[in-house]
This record gives sequence, structure tokens and C-alpha cells, in this order.
Amino acid sequence: MQFSRRDFSKMLLGAGALGLLDLDVFGRFLGDSKKSMRYLATQNASGEGVWTKLKIDGKVPKSLNGNLFRTAPGQSSRFGVTLRHLFDGDAYGAAWRFRNGKVTLQGRYIPTPGRIKEQKAGKMIYGEYGTSIPNQQGGKNQPSVNIIEWRGGLLGLSEGGLPTKINPENFDFEGYENFGGVVPNYLTFTAHPRFDAKTNDMYAWGFEKRPPGTMHIIHVNNKTGKAETLYKMPQQGFNMVHDAMLTENYFVILILPTAYDLPMLMSGKPMGDALKFAEKQPTMLYAFPRDNKGGKAKPIAIELPPQIIFHYGNAYESKPNRITFETISSDSDQIFEVLRNWREDNVPKLAKPPVLKQVTVDLGKKLVVSTNDLAKDVEFPRYDMRLTGQKARYLYVAEKLYDKDASIMRIDLKTRKVQKAGVGKTRTVAEPVFVPKTKKINEDRGWILAQGYDAEKNENFLEIRDAQTLDFAARVWANGQHFPLGFHGNYYSI
Ligand SMILES: [Fe+2]
Repeated sequence: MQFSRRDFSKMLLGAGALGLLDLDVFGRFLGDSKKSMRYLATQNASGEGVWTKLKIDGKVPKSLNGNLFRTAPGQSSRFGVTLRHLFDGDAYGAAWRFRNGKVTLQGRYIPTPGRIKEQKAGKMIYGEYGTSIPNQQGGKNQPSVNIIEWRGGLLGLSEGGLPTKINPENFDFEGYENFGGVVPNYLTFTAHPRFDAKTNDMYAWGFEKRPPGTMHIIHVNNKTGKAETLYKMPQQGFNMVHDAMLTENYFVILILPTAYDLPMLMSGKPMGDALKFAEKQPTMLYAFPRDNKGGKAKPIAIELPPQIIFHYGNAYESKPNRITFETISSDSDQIFEVLRNWREDNVPKLAKPPVLKQVTVDLGKKLVVSTNDLAKDVEFPRYDMRLTGQKARYLYVAEKLYDKDASIMRIDLKTRKVQKAGVGKTRTVAEPVFVPKTKKINEDRGWILAQGYDAEKNENFLEIRDAQTLDFAARVWANGQHFPLGFHGNYYSI
């Protein structure tokens, strides 16, 4: 008997409905290859496991001895429900482990209580950031945005609640971190804490999940693991604050003119739909003195033009009372539309892609001194993290993120010269993580590690390039596996 493509599809759909096939596997048969690069690069993972015999193009530097941990939100669907927003889906952790020129890869959905409960029920129970379901029970705290090493363990960060403690060897769930009982569980907690380069102390923030959404500024001592709340600042509504900056004397937060539309949320719309840009209101920069003078210090406030920002590069005090920083900024809320319709084929390209800018503010005069555009359509800025709070010369970004023909860029902040390395027409690439080659700080001596996805092979890879030249060193393939490309991760030497 001859099967037509239609019959074959029907059979696969039946098998899928019976739970005999992973939905993603037959997605491929049904022509997912026609979907956009951004869809393919964030589809459900093809599998979980540890893969040890990885195909390598080029040569992995023997000097790389450590682990690159990455996390991703990312499922294109869950129990048959299409997840609309890029931020939706359970957290998938990936570990690329380097040992003397050899590499292994581990990939696993982090087994959080929320995920386990849904897996057992065989259906969605919780709402996602951009996808609501009938009778949903709140949301899941999925550590899907960033993953960091903290006092010998790993913390997975979601921005929605307390950090998730994750076993660095096997990605087991090990509970939640409240930093010595100081951070309450009614607080959101950032996915982008900043670290003092000398002490590795953490600076973070969260918002109370109750009116008026009071912001807490938190300092965590790395030696003791205990937090102290430096400031509490009531808000007017629930704003989006995704990233922050740390200089020698200040922790800098920008409150964007974005807010969640409460009536929309009350009516059951997902948060992703309810996030609005008030394009006529200013962006407020607050420089919080790191020394809070026993609770007596006050933040310095500066008004900036309205903008939407996800990420900052580095920041430093360029003169007494002046802070210079890099930001990736957009003055159009079209970015929200693209994010919340991520799985649609026909979402228009961004008319105004985000722009990387270098901004200098004067804390004394409370005004913007200068703004310079450096590059456009870039995201995920990284630098040599040992220079946090000091002047770093180079910034690395991904250009045309989640799109075909993407590249890794190195921007010289002194000369404004841009170097660019494409990863191939059928591929895309995400966050370029800087890995130092030397113990002594030297920004010209490093590797760039960037996770990527090849649409032709339907397979992920890890790209390794020399940080100074962006010359190709190696491409490590993911043993035929594909998994969501994700947002952030970090490399730690062993
Ligand atoms: Fe981020």
C-alpha cells in the first residue's frame, strides 16, 4: 500500500495525539522547514541527554577548560498548545563542557516542580508569559533566561520569582535561593544581576508582586551568601526592567516607560499582550549609591528620552559625576509585537531595529551629556566581565539575532570600528560570550563562544572564534540535536 504525504501526515498526527511521537519530530515531516529561522531556532528540543562524540569542524583550543552553561525559554508548543511568545516554554539547560580540546554536550529540560506537575498531568496547568489557557493556575517559575555560577552551584534565573538552584553536574532541581532568608518569595528577581569584579558580590533587584510594585535593590555578599536590602522604592505600576549596570560607586537602573495594562491582565490576557509602551513618558535613570550610608543615601534621578531597552553593555565612571554606558535601545514598541507573535510566519520585520548606543550622563547636572549610535540590529552585548564597572574597550554583540545570515560583531568603543564575522547563510547565532585566554586582564586575548543553529541541518552548534580577530577556531555540532537557542549563559573555568 502506498502512503500519500497526506495519509502519512494523518498517521503521524494520530500517533502524536496518542503521545507516541514527540510533537516536534513530526513537525519536521509536516514541513516545518518552511517556517522562519526564528521559529526553527526556538522550537522544542529534539531530545535530552549527554552527548560525548561530537563532530567538530576546526580545532577546539586545548586551553579551554571549563563549562559554558546556557538556558533557554523555549518550546514552540506544549501538549499540543502553540506557545505564542518567545519567552514561553519550559527552561532547557545546555552545558558545553571543555576538557583539553575535547567537548561534551548535555541538554535537559530543568525538572522544576511546575514542569514535573504538568508532565505528570499530561497537559498545561499554568499560563505562560504570552500564552493563556482556560482555567490556568498562575505561572511557573522557569529558570529560562539566565544561568550563573554562585558559590559553587548554579542559579537559574527567570525574572518571575526566586532563583532556582540547579545541580551543575546533571541539571537536577535543588530548590530556590532566598539568600539567607532576606529575599521574600513575593518578589520578582532579576535575570541580570551584576557582579563586582573584585569581590564577586551580587547586585540585583526585584519588584513586589503587589501594589504599588515596590522595587527592592539587593546586595548579596559572595562570601556569606547573605543578602541585604539597600533600597526600597515604591513604583507606580508594574514596569519592565530587564537589565542594570554596576559602576565603582553606583548601581544603575533605568525604569522604562513600559507598564502592564492591569485591566487586560485582569481579563485573562497573558502578560506578553498586556505590556505597553508609553512612548510619551520619559525613561528614568536612577543611580543608587552602592554605599547606602546606613539607609540614608538617596538615588540620583535623570530623565532620558522614552525608549525600550532589554540590555546594557558595560558602564563606568568616565569622570567624577559622569557615567558612560552602552545600551541597546528601541523607540518603537513593534519589538513587543514580534515577540508575542513569535510562532507566526507573517510577522513583519522590525521597521526600526534596535540601536546600540553609547550614552554619557552627568550625575551632578542630572542630564544626558552625549549619545552616540554604534551599530543597529544587534543584541546580547557581552564584554570581558572582569572589567565590570571599569572602562572596557570592546563590546561583542550578535547581529540579526535569530535571523538567517546572522553574525558576531566586535565593536571598538574607542575607534568605533566594527569587525564582523558571519556564521553562514543557513545559520543563526546568539549571545557571544567572551572567555579570557589569560589570567591577567587583556581584552585582546580571549575566545568568543556563541551557540548557534543551522536550519539546513536542523541542528545546533557552538561557534568558537578568536576574540581579537574573530577568526574561526571551531564549530562543535550538537550530535544531530536541536534545541531552543536561548538568551543567556556564562562560561566558568575549572
Ligand atoms: Fe536578557
